[in-house]
Amino acid sequence: MDPAQIKQVILNLCQNAMEAMGEGGNLTVETTFLPTRGEVCLEIKDTGCGIPQERIKSIGVPFYTTKAEGTGLGLSICFSIVDKHKGKIEVQSQEGQGTTFSVILPIER
Ligand SMILES: Nc1ncnc2c1ncn2[C@@H]1O[C@H](COP(=O)(O)OP(=O)(O)OP(=O)(O)O)[C@@H](O)[C@H]1O
Ligand SMILES: [Mg+2]
Repeated sequence: MDPAQIKQVILNLCQNAMEAMGEGGNLTVETTFLPTRGEVCLEIKDTGCGIPQERIKSIGVPFYTTKAEGTGLGLSICFSIVDKHKGKIEVQSQEGQGTTFSVILPIER
């Protein structure tokens, strides 16, 4: 894996998580090694505002942002880096409860 690029993914997801928790909350970063599946999983979980179900499909679309100062490029960069590593990103979110981004990366490519 390209460490600088994976670092960028983690930073972008943590930045979004913190921005989603304007009034405070918990940011959890967890890694799991799944040897039988040949994967590592990186989970970034927040207890922030959440993403409405109908907007989940828009995330990662370049320039999609709900922030006054956002470029809407953070997630599209994450998706393209993870794609290059033959991995995938899954999103689970509950409005008003929080969001979990799971980055699943194969160990061998
Ligand atoms: N953890 C999250 N909780 C709630 N909404 C999120 C979360 N992560 C992303 N989003 C939503 O997805 C949109 C796109 O995120 P993305 O990181 O691509 O752009 P941005 O954060 O708006 O701008 P930038 O990353 O350039 O500062 C955000 O504007 C926000 O609406
Ligand atoms: Mg962002």
